[in-house]
Amino acid sequence: MDQNALKKLVGEESAKYVKNNMVVGLGSGTTVQFLVDALGNRVKNEKLNITCVSTSNFTADHASNLGIIVKSIDDVMQVDLTIDGADEIDSNFNGIKGGGAAHLWEKIVATNSKKNMWIVDESKMVNQLGTFPLPLEVIPFGSSHVYDKLDAKGYHPEFRTKDGNRVLTDSKNEIIDLHLGKINHPFQLADELIKMVGVVEHGLFLNIVNYVIVGTQHGIEKLTRPGDQFPK
Ligand code: 5RP
Repeated sequence: MDQNALKKLVGEESAKYVKNNMVVGLGSGTTVQFLVDALGNRVKNEKLNITCVSTSNFTADHASNLGIIVKSIDDVMQVDLTIDGADEIDSNFNGIKGGGAAHLWEKIVATNSKKNMWIVDESKMVNQLGTFPLPLEVIPFGSSHVYDKLDAKGYHPEFRTKDGNRVLTDSKNEIIDLHLGKINHPFQLADELIKMVGVVEHGLFLNIVNYVIVGTQHGIEKLTRPGDQFPK
């Protein structure tokens, strides 16, 4: 199976854990698109009754177009389960997100969710975080100075661009990717980055995920963070 087929496998599998009357957080990215398609089918065919909150305008539009009710995170008290993709996950259930420039909204939704489930193909499972460039969402005002400070620290920053223009997030901020190679002390790094003026959020998701569904060549693997129980 190619990577896309594995993403479809886990996206569709994760939709089974969405139950009637849940408030569901919808992540962002190509894997989540398969989840949204599957949820759209369940809403249509099974009359599944759910309210969703989205982590990006793209996912919100996709879900709404399929007849899924999407509310703002500010209009719900709490989210029961958020299902999202990831760029890297290590054996301690810590991860890097933001490959799709949505990690700020993703972290806001994740940290207001009772439980978080990540859906990934096996290429995302790593021994150590850092091969995938670590995204930072930064305010455009003064961002060249944030860049210079990151460069001076030896973090190999790079503004994310598309077609020659800086990528803007749904909050109209910029993305600086850090090419770190490996991250030896993720908690220390997270602390340092979030204290930098101008940085809105980094893509380190530490102690956030409860369950991971991994698509492998041998089928689906379900991982549970110690202390949690995989839902039925
Ligand atoms: C977006 C994200 C995505 O969840 C992550 O990049 C994985 O994307 P994909 O499912 O397309 O591989 O963090 O900001």
